[in-house]
Amino acid sequence: MYRAPRGTSDILPGEQGYFRYIEEKAAELCRLYGYERIDTPVFEDARLFIRTIGPGTDIVEKETYSFEDRSGQAMTLRPEGTAPICRAYLEHGMHNLPQPVRLYYFASIFRYERPQKGRYRQHQQFGVEALGDGDPALDAEVIDMAWQFFASTGLANLSLQINSIGCKKCRPRYLDELKGYYSQYVAELCSDCKARLRRSPLRILDCKKPSCQGLAVAAPQSTDYLCHDCKEHFESVMGYLSLLGIQFQKNHRLVRGLDYYTRTVFEIQPQGEEGAQSALGGGGRYDDLIEELGGKPTPAVGFAVGIERIVLNMKQQRIALPAPSGQRVFVAYSGEEAKNEAIKLVATLRRCGIPTLSGLGDRSLKAQLRQANALGAAYALIIGEDEVKSGTVELRDMAKGEQRRVSMGEVVSVLGWGTV
Ligand code: HAM
Repeated sequence: MYRAPRGTSDILPGEQGYFRYIEEKAAELCRLYGYERIDTPVFEDARLFIRTIGPGTDIVEKETYSFEDRSGQAMTLRPEGTAPICRAYLEHGMHNLPQPVRLYYFASIFRYERPQKGRYRQHQQFGVEALGDGDPALDAEVIDMAWQFFASTGLANLSLQINSIGCKKCRPRYLDELKGYYSQYVAELCSDCKARLRRSPLRILDCKKPSCQGLAVAAPQSTDYLCHDCKEHFESVMGYLSLLGIQFQKNHRLVRGLDYYTRTVFEIQPQGEEGAQSALGGGGRYDDLIEELGGKPTPAVGFAVGIERIVLNMKQQRIALPAPSGQRVFVAYSGEEAKNEAIKLVATLRRCGIPTLSGLGDRSLKAQLRQANALGAAYALIIGEDEVKSGTVELRDMAKGEQRRVSMGEVVSVLGWGTV
């Protein structure tokens, strides 16, 4: 027996309601905030991700699904959505449009991680990117959007954590301080962090191993090393968030797992469950990324959320989905002639926008009605020999168990306009 690959899962019909619900909330939010949808390919030139996410990150070092295509080109399945959007921004000359360009996406994301609850090798993200403006008000807009999105899903008890990790001018000094600090405790660092100390000391702050976490508490804080501009920018972002009435916590250990961030970074987590495992969404500013890809300096900011984690949390918080709209009709028949009438009636109802199913084969009327019941049909339309002769159907209200005869010509208006 084949099974879905480890760390992936089938989204069965019973689960689809959550995914569609979340997507609808997201799309409606984007409409309100003026963000337009973009779709990019599932795979890209491998170098795009190495360059932007960073060679020293877990994602690039251990998690990409990379392959050579038949012409020998190195390709990578999209391990995040931001770099492809920046590539598309440049490729399609979007810098010529009025700035910022506001885009959103739903995308399958692939990361070869150790699968566990809320951590998969393929997951879905909803993300937004606002490209071409450095105004801290745009950071606040994007954070507000993330926050309103979660509010619209009905999730409660979330916390918003924010930090600023500075820019290429001020960050080197901070990294030196961080290296100096951790160099005193090399023996206590996990093996991964020993390697990180040389190449990407920022990542140590993010390590989930208890000994490294303990050391992070007293580590130098990036906000103490910000240059004047970054400091002002961060103050403004926080000021705008306060104007918008959005509560946040400053978290000096929040650095994010991708190298492209500058200045603002943020994450949204269930309260009391801090850690990357539980983050429902995250993002930040990436002012150098487009330049890194060969464009002009183009400040930008965005976020993405993990849809499976949101579904998990919605279930934990017992958030019910709205009842599906549109009542279903089931057409049952008895006999060959009645089957012909049933096939025509089903087609007519569907063309009139009424969701309809019918029995198949030569099951008894009783068995067909049991099936109608199991499918949650609101009404059954029953056609037998008598009905064929008289051009009528028996209309059965499944909940009440009441039945009445309706002429074939009336069925659509009776069902379609709810005057049953
Ligand atoms: P990220 O934090 O790596 O950011 O991923 C965004 C969200 O995707 C996470 O907060 C989490 O909910 C979900 N997620 C990540 N990995 C997994 C996984 N293995 N299984 C299930 N869910 C997962 C980014 O990808 C950035 N591109 C976000 C961004 C957009 N930054 C700026 N713009």
